[in-house]
Amino acid sequence: MGIQITPSILNADLSRLADEVGRIPSADWVHVDVMDNHFVPNLTIGLPVFESLAKSTDLPIDAHLMIDEPDRWAPAYAEAGAGSVTFHAEAARAPVRLARELRSKGARASMALKPATPVEPYADMLGELDMLLVMTVEPGFGGQRFLDLCLPKIRRARELISAAGLEVWLQVDGGISLETIERCAEAGADVFVAGSAVYSAEDPDAMVQRLREAAGS
Ligand code: DX5
Ligand code: ZN
Repeated sequence: MGIQITPSILNADLSRLADEVGRIPSADWVHVDVMDNHFVPNLTIGLPVFESLAKSTDLPIDAHLMIDEPDRWAPAYAEAGAGSVTFHAEAARAPVRLARELRSKGARASMALKPATPVEPYADMLGELDMLLVMTVEPGFGGQRFLDLCLPKIRRARELISAAGLEVWLQVDGGISLETIERCAEAGADVFVAGSAVYSAEDPDAMVQRLREAAGS
């Protein structure tokens, strides 16, 4: 798998979700941010809206769950049709069991790390994952400034994945734009979430293509 661009709809017009997703046909995935006002100080959409959105698009859905108790809630997103489900390491009680459950329900299993969460403690479980998400802002809001301090972690994560001979995708999320995507790609990321960069562009699909080129594919 090469470079993949997964626009986040957090900064889209949420009253016209299906139309907004229709504006990014070149995207590889649609990134849907689920927030519960507990794990992060913001509230977005939950399962009913997610289910409707999944039915309204042919693009695969990349669900990013910024919620407490993902062990309890995440499997339902796989059942609702998410192609990939990301839970946070900081919130999961049994990340290995949860990753296996997500895979058993047919979704790709993915785990996210907040900026201050190190990757090393999870080195031995990378084989349980299809994707690792290194957050490049504190999760909770779109439009934040990219944190350069996350770059060494992206590099270390890529080294751990390569050393183990795994095919785990390495995703970055937060502040990804034409200014920052290149250094993430250089550090080893291959899946790029971009929210405000895509939806504040006059032509969101053209921006998806420009981001893909900037990332080097
Ligand atoms: C932030 C979300 C992101 C957000 C990215 O917590 O997880 O997916 O939408 O938005 P930008 O690209 O504007 O930082
Ligand atoms: Zn996200």
